[in-house]
Amino acid sequence: MADKKAILTIDGNSVELPILSGTMGHDVIDVRSLGKFGHFTFDPGFLATGSCESAITFIDGEKGVLLHRGYPIAELATKADYLEVCYLLLHGKAPTSEEYKEFVGIINKHTMVHEGIEFFFRGYRRDAHPMAMLCGIVGALSSFYHRDLDITDAEQRVRCATRLVAKLPTIAAMCYKYSIGQKFVCPKNELSYSENFLNMMFSVPAEDYEIHPAVAKAMDRIFTLHADHEQNASTSTVRLAGSSGANPYACIAAGIASLWGPAHGGANEACLNMLEEIGSVDRIDEYVAKAKDKSDPFRLMGFGHRVYKNFDPRAKVMRETCHEVLEALGIDDPLLQVAMRLEQIALEDEYFISKKLYPNVDFYSGIILKAIGIPTNMFTVIFALSRTIGWISHWHEMLSQPGAKIGRPRQLYTGELPREFSPIAKD
Ligand code: CMC
Repeated sequence: MADKKAILTIDGNSVELPILSGTMGHDVIDVRSLGKFGHFTFDPGFLATGSCESAITFIDGEKGVLLHRGYPIAELATKADYLEVCYLLLHGKAPTSEEYKEFVGIINKHTMVHEGIEFFFRGYRRDAHPMAMLCGIVGALSSFYHRDLDITDAEQRVRCATRLVAKLPTIAAMCYKYSIGQKFVCPKNELSYSENFLNMMFSVPAEDYEIHPAVAKAMDRIFTLHADHEQNASTSTVRLAGSSGANPYACIAAGIASLWGPAHGGANEACLNMLEEIGSVDRIDEYVAKAKDKSDPFRLMGFGHRVYKNFDPRAKVMRETCHEVLEALGIDDPLLQVAMRLEQIALEDEYFISKKLYPNVDFYSGIILKAIGIPTNMFTVIFALSRTIGWISHWHEMLSQPGAKIGRPRQLYTGELPREFSPIAKD
């Protein structure tokens, strides 16, 4: 915090607003007192509005920097595994070997879901989108954990976080198994987090699934690279829902809903659909022209980011992983050729350069997931599974902060002036 001030002049009167400084990044002007002076700020889409104080993740979009608790994402993705990163996000420090062992043990204890969850699935159509199932089932967890849950108790909040991290792979795999009419596969606690998920996705009672180490490693990396991303749409949704004191499982379901859209977590599915639609390298120019055409709503999925205006540091690691996986599995996917050529053309095109549009994390993750054998409509489910730790860590942080207020934005009203209501004749 600093004692710098901003002076705002409204109708000739000066209003003094404190400027707050964090440890890094932009200073913020504290406008909380403005209402007293008869004004609100106006920032639809939150282009320049800080909604909270947070010590979890730092992003410098101009420089392409992403830090979790101070550690660069590329280091975490290559030197730590997903559960270490989960511990780091939730507890604020990297675990010691002992703490890590204990954490993995706790996660393993919670991987199973109540049998009642299986019955919830029966209500879904088999062709329901897996995100629809995930959203409903995670919300339904609130009916199992509600009455005894005291969200003012930090220990109970951490227990809720570990439960969610443990159960999400089980539920995500159940969404897939239900959609293809196969039996649900129970978690196996001797497997690593990513191996367990792959096993629940791909093994069947009649046959074991052989887990390729390169696939398990890539899966873990995809989880890690999606673990948290500061105050994005879904995280802000979880915080807003949680600010009313709502059940955390219901808040995570709200985050899942927000993530689903193609502008956010749905981009990985949309990106792969787009690559398939383009189909071959000779059709790329046509699609680039469509993306640049103002009268055409088409956008190159997997390109652009609200915050990154240089490069997405997650995309760099994901790109390497993508090549590693395809090589390890001996896959020569023509879609990768389309993706690489598209990337090259877009990076050299004046439109994309001037608007600072670069490939984002989801440009490459879809190609990896496809190579692993994950169906396209499960891509966003995997994003949600990975991001659950980020959402719940932010929820935990928010409830740990003294004086937290319910989130309640204001508006610029553009509707009718007061008028008299004339009742209609009803007979
Ligand atoms: N293809 C073509 N033009 C684009 C694209 C794109 N992918 N993205 C942005 N633009 C243009 C847009 O038309 C606008 O042009 P103009 O200034 O002439 O009106 C300009 O660039 C700025 O776009 P914007 O929509 O105002 O930017 P935003 O910060 O509100 O949106 C975004 C960011 C990610 C929603 C957007 O870039 C987009 O829709 N990208 C495709 C979807 C995608 O890949 N999303 C995943 C993001 S990474 C995963 C995650 O973290 O959720």
